[in-house]
Amino acid sequence: NSMLSWQRTAFHFQPEKNWMNDPNGPLYYKGWYHFFYQYNPNAAVWGDIVWGHSVSRDMIHWLHLPLAMVNDQWYDINGVWTGSATILPNGQIIMLYTGSTNESVQVQNLAYPADPSDPLLVDWIKYPNNPVLFPPPGIGYKDFRDPTTAWLTSEGKWRITIGSKLNKTGIALVYDTEDFKTYELKEGTLRAVAGTGMWECVDFYPVSKMAENGLDTSSNGAEVKHVVKVSLDDDRHDYYSIGNYDEKKISFIPDDVKNDVGIGLRYDYGIFYASKTFYDQSKGRRVLWGWIGESDSEYADITKGWASVQSIPRTVKLDKKTRSNLLQWPVAEVDTLRLRSDEFKNLKAKPGSVVSLNIESATQLDIVAEFEINKEALEKATESNVEYRCSTNGGAAKRGALGPFGLLVLADEGLSEYTPVYFYVIKGSDGHLKTSFCSDQSRSSQATDVNKQIFGSFVPVLEGEKLSVRILVDHSIVESFAQGGRTCIASRVYPTRAIYGAARLFLFNNATEATVTASIKIWQLNSAFIRPFHPGHKI
Ligand code: FRU
Repeated sequence: NSMLSWQRTAFHFQPEKNWMNDPNGPLYYKGWYHFFYQYNPNAAVWGDIVWGHSVSRDMIHWLHLPLAMVNDQWYDINGVWTGSATILPNGQIIMLYTGSTNESVQVQNLAYPADPSDPLLVDWIKYPNNPVLFPPPGIGYKDFRDPTTAWLTSEGKWRITIGSKLNKTGIALVYDTEDFKTYELKEGTLRAVAGTGMWECVDFYPVSKMAENGLDTSSNGAEVKHVVKVSLDDDRHDYYSIGNYDEKKISFIPDDVKNDVGIGLRYDYGIFYASKTFYDQSKGRRVLWGWIGESDSEYADITKGWASVQSIPRTVKLDKKTRSNLLQWPVAEVDTLRLRSDEFKNLKAKPGSVVSLNIESATQLDIVAEFEINKEALEKATESNVEYRCSTNGGAAKRGALGPFGLLVLADEGLSEYTPVYFYVIKGSDGHLKTSFCSDQSRSSQATDVNKQIFGSFVPVLEGEKLSVRILVDHSIVESFAQGGRTCIASRVYPTRAIYGAARLFLFNNATEATVTASIKIWQLNSAFIRPFHPGHKI
C-alpha cells in the first residue's frame, strides 16, 4: 500500500515485505557480510518462521538472497528459529539454530554451507542426524532455545550456552562439544538470576579492558572482561552485565550485583530486542545487531504489508572511562551515506525557546550535537533528592531548572507533531549533577493507534565532558546515542504530517533557568537502496 510507504526506512535493514524479527547468525566470509533473520514469508505478522538471508560489502548496502533455510523437517516444521554462527579456525562455518518440532518441542539443530567456495553462501545443508540437542531433564520443552556462537575452552573443546528458565529463574545452560554433533551438558549454569524469567537469545562475549578493538569470541585472559546479554521474554528488553568468566567453574560473576544478568543495564532504552553480536575479523571489531519492532497496530502492519527493521549495526566495546558500561556506536560505514551537511555553531537557546534549524530535508539525517548549560544556572540550581525518570516525569513538556533541552526531530512546521530527543539535568542532594537522556514519543504523531511512550534512562557524564548526542533519523525510526554510546534509545514514530518534504528539525530548550549553547552538525543521509540480488549483478 503506497499510501503508507513514508514509514519505510531508507538505510535501516528490512526485507522487501512481510514480518521480520531476530537477527540470526551474522558473520563475515570471503569479503561479504552475511545477515540472516527470522522471517515470515507469508504475512506481516509473526508465524511460519524461516531464515531470510542478505549480503553486503559494508553492512549498509544489502542485497537480498533466497531464503537460507525453510521449515521442511519434522524437527523445524513449526519454525526455523534463532541461531548463531561459529567460524572454525580452518574457516569452516557452523550454524546452530533452534527448531520448533512437529510437537512444538524446542531442539537444537546443526547446518552448514553446501558450497564453502561460494562467497554468497546461498545453499545450506541441514545435518542429516538433526536434532543435535533435546531439552535436558527438568527443562520445559518450550524453554530451550537460541544457541550462541561457540567459543574455545583451554582444553580445546567448543562451548556454547542456551537460555532457559527454572520456574521464574532465568538460566544459561552450558554444553561442550568437539564436533557440533554430540554435546556434553555441563553441571550448573553460566549464570542464574531469580525473577528474570525465560532468557531468550543469550549472547556471551569478551571485551578488551585496554584496547579499542573487538575480540574473537574465544579470547580470554587477564586483559578481558566478559559480557552476558539476555533478552527477557517477560519484559521484552535486552539486558547486559559486565563481569568475569571463570572457565574452570563455568560461571560468570558480574562486577556489580546491581547490574547482574537481566536486571541492570540495557543495550537500549527504546525498542530493541533479541540482539546478537559477532566478531568482524576483517576489521577487528565486535558488531551488535538488534531487532527493532513496530509500535503501530498489527492492523497497520498488515495494511502496510511489512513489520520490523534492524538497528544500524553498532560497534560495541567496554567504556574505558567508566569501566561499568558498554559503548555502542553506529559502524563507521554509515558515514559513507553522508551527503551535504549544515553546521550550526554556538547557537544560544534561552529558557523556553524553540529554534528552527534550516536544513534541506529532515527525514534521513545523521545529527551530531553538543550542549552546554551556562555556569550561573548550574550554580544557582537547588539540590533535589527526587530522582528524575524519563518515562514518568512528563516528557519534554515538563519543565525543570536545567532541562529538558535537545532536538525536535520529525517535526512539522506548525509543531503539531514532533519527537523530542533530550537531556534533563538535575542537581542531586549530594551536589552532583545527574543527567537523564530521553526520547519522547507522546507528540510524535496525530495517529491514535501508535505507541506514545517516553523512553530513556540515566547517562554517565564525567567531569569536563560536554553533553553530546548522535541521532540517526530514518523516516519512522529515531536511533539516538548519548555520550558516545553510553545510553542508547531507538524510537519508532509514525508522523502523519512531518513526512517527506514537510519534515523539519528544531533545537529546543524547555528548561526554566538554563541557557543552552548548542553546536550541531547535520548530514543528509543517502538511501542504502537495499534490494534483491540479481545474478547479473557485479560483485
Ligand atoms: C525471540 C524469539 C526467540 C526465538 C525466535 C522465534 O524474539 O522468541 O527466542 O528463537 O524469536 O522467532
